[in-house]
Amino acid sequence: MTNNESNLHWKNSWNAMRKERMRPSKVTFDSEFNERVMHDQFQVLKSSNYEYGRKAVKVLKVILKENHETLEIGPGPGTLTIPLAKNVKKVIAVECSELAASYLAKNMKEHQLTNIEVVNKRWEELSDSELKDRFDLVVCSHFLWQVKDLEEHLRRMENASRKHCVVIQPAGRDSLVREAWTEVTRQDYRGQLEPDADFFVYLVLRKWGRLVNVKTMEYSIERNLDQEARHIAFLVGKHIEVNANRMKAIENYIHEKKGTEQHKEQCCAVVMWWTKE
Ligand SMILES: C[S@@+](CC[C@H](N)C(=O)[O-])C[C@H]1O[C@@H](n2cnc3c(N)ncnc32)[C@H](O)[C@@H]1O
Repeated sequence: MTNNESNLHWKNSWNAMRKERMRPSKVTFDSEFNERVMHDQFQVLKSSNYEYGRKAVKVLKVILKENHETLEIGPGPGTLTIPLAKNVKKVIAVECSELAASYLAKNMKEHQLTNIEVVNKRWEELSDSELKDRFDLVVCSHFLWQVKDLEEHLRRMENASRKHCVVIQPAGRDSLVREAWTEVTRQDYRGQLEPDADFFVYLVLRKWGRLVNVKTMEYSIERNLDQEARHIAFLVGKHIEVNANRMKAIENYIHEKKGTEQHKEQCCAVVMWWTKE
């Protein structure tokens, strides 16, 4: 296979994967469903006391320094940002959603952090020349699905960094989600909801001759039964419409499996970091 052919090959796979992941969720019984899911995510983050971000920072301790100036792309409500800011000098957090940026600002206040600057813009709006070599570390977490052109995104991350770049992506789904999929859709689970963006990063970076450090981390997410039902409906809704009957089926299934217990999802994420050449 020539270089051009192999480029085309992975780019087609990247586009196909993005098309699936970025598909809007079709949940039709509740017009405020998406807002509820977002609110759930913010609640869950707090009740976990930022476990995901704390674990990621622990993995990154090998490169993080107190005097580091860092850039985070797509911080959301501060999943990584809050723990990161406790370990470095400064975080510039570029977040395009006003709602997410306002949650982040609230969370910073709650943690009395004054070293986070929230830039409420799309990261593509920041020019290469204004970013060039400005940061010791540039990171994006749970972000890659937003990216159309992965090579351009990684190139821009490297442009903004004078040293380290980091990508963190979730990997794997827990058994309750996989089983609920089959229960609701009557189809076998063949990875339809599996997060799968991380390996493309490795492919591109190795092609560029970068040596990539990879570590996995485990963390947990605890949801009450209503939150868990919405989480599953949101994922399943990317493939089939979730109407009131299907939502009932999801709720019944969770109730049967968990009783009235909270559900603790065991999750995994991949942390990849490399040094700019
Ligand atoms: C899935 S969330 C991840 C949040 C957080 N980083 C985490 O690890 O949980 C992706 C975030 O990226 C933001 N986002 C999407 N496209 C963006 C862009 N082009 N520039 C800046 N932020 C963006 C979204 O608004 C959202 O808050």
